[in-house]
Amino acid sequence: MRGLQPSCLLLCVVAASAMPTVPWRVACPPRCVCQIRPWYTPRSAYREAATVDCNDLFITSVPPELPEGTQTLLLQSNNIARLEQGELGYLRNLSELDLSQNSFSDVWDFGLRNMPQLLSLHLEENQLSDLPDSSFPGLGNLQELYLNHNRLRSIAPRAFAGLGSLLRLHLNSNLLRTLDSRWFQMLPSLEILMVGGNKVDAILDMNFRPLGNLRSLVLAGMQLREISDYALEGLRSLESLSFYDNKLADVPKRALQQVPGLKFLDLNKNPLQRVKQSDFTNMLHLKELGLNNMDELVSIDQFALINLPELTKLDVTNNPKLSFIHPKAFQHLPQLETLMLNNNALSALHRQTVESLPNLQEISIHGNPCTRSCYPIKIPMAILISFLHTLKLGFEYKNLDCGVIL
Ligand SMILES: *[C@@H]1O[C@H](CO)[C@@H](O)[C@H](O)[C@H]1NC(C)=O
Repeated sequence: MRGLQPSCLLLCVVAASAMPTVPWRVACPPRCVCQIRPWYTPRSAYREAATVDCNDLFITSVPPELPEGTQTLLLQSNNIARLEQGELGYLRNLSELDLSQNSFSDVWDFGLRNMPQLLSLHLEENQLSDLPDSSFPGLGNLQELYLNHNRLRSIAPRAFAGLGSLLRLHLNSNLLRTLDSRWFQMLPSLEILMVGGNKVDAILDMNFRPLGNLRSLVLAGMQLREISDYALEGLRSLESLSFYDNKLADVPKRALQQVPGLKFLDLNKNPLQRVKQSDFTNMLHLKELGLNNMDELVSIDQFALINLPELTKLDVTNNPKLSFIHPKAFQHLPQLETLMLNNNALSALHRQTVESLPNLQEISIHGNPCTRSCYPIKIPMAILISFLHTLKLGFEYKNLDCGVIL
C-alpha cells in the first residue's frame, strides 16, 4: 500500500541504478569492491558514498585495514558472528553498516561503541534472541535500525536507550509476544515502525503513546484479535496504518478515532463479517481505504462509511462472500473517485449507491456474478454498465460473467 515507504524509495532505486559508479582508488581488501556509489540518507538526501562492498564472500570476520574514508561498508551474507570492541572505530566517516544475513546471536558481539557518525545499521536476518538495556550505546545519531527477521523474544525496557535520533525501526518477523510501550519512550523521533510478523494478540491502551512523530505504523500478520479503544492514543502524526492479515472480527473504530490525521488504512485480510453502521466515520483526512481479501465478509451495511471528506479511493475486492452493499452504505464521500468492487459475490448494485458518489470517475466490477432475477430497486450489472456509460465513467467490465450488455 502507498504511504508506507519513504517518499523516494522507488525513485531512489531507479536513480541509483542509473547513476554510474566510479572506481575508488584505494587499497581495497581482497575480493571486496571499492567504489564511489550513489547513496541516499535516511531522510532521502542524495550523496555520494565511498563504499566498500564485501557482500557474499562467506567470510567469518571483517577484513582488516579497510580504507579510512569508508562511508558505506557492506558485509551482507557472510558468516560473521563477532566484531571486536572498537574494531571499526577507525572508520570515522562510516555512515552505513550492513551486517545483515550474518551469524550474530548476541548484541555484546557487535563491538559498536561510540560511532556517532553512523546513520544506518542493518542487522536483519541474524540470530539475535534478546536485547538487554542499552543494546546500542554511543550511536546517538543513528537514524535507521533494521532488526527484522531475527529471533527476538525479549527486548528490555531500555534496550533502545540513547537512540534519540532514530527515525526508522524494523522489528518485524521476530518472536515477540508483546509490545512494551517503554521501548518507545527512548525513541521520541521515530517516524516509521514495523512490528508485523510477531505473534502479538492484543495492543494495550497507550501502547504507542510516546511516538508523537510516528507517521507510519505496520502491524501486519500479527494475529491481533483486539485493538483496545486507546491503543493508538498519542500517535498525533500518524498518516499510514496497516492491520493487514490479522484476526480482527470488527473494525477497531474507537481506536481509529484517536488518529484523526490518518490518510491510509489497510484492513485487508481480516475476518470481518460485516462493515457496520458508522464503522468508518468522520475520518477527515482518510484518502484510501482497503477492504480486500476478507473471506468472511458478507455485507456492507447502511451508513457504513459516513463523512470521509477526503476519501478518493475505496478498494473492496476479492471478498468471495460479499453479496450485499446497502444502497445507503456510502454517505458524504464527496471526493471519492475510484471504486473497486471486482471479484466479490455481488449480483447487483443499487443505483443509489453509485448516485451518492458525486465525484466518481472510475468503477471496477468485473468478476461478480450476474443477477438472474432483477429486483425492482436493484439494477442488474448489465443495466448498471449502460447507466455508467451515460455518466461517462471510465470502468472495467472484462470478465463480468454476464451474458448481455445493453
Ligand atoms: C571524512 O569526511 C570529511 C568531511 O567530508 C573529509 O574531509 C575527510 O577527509 C574524511 N576522512 C577521510 C579519512 O577520508
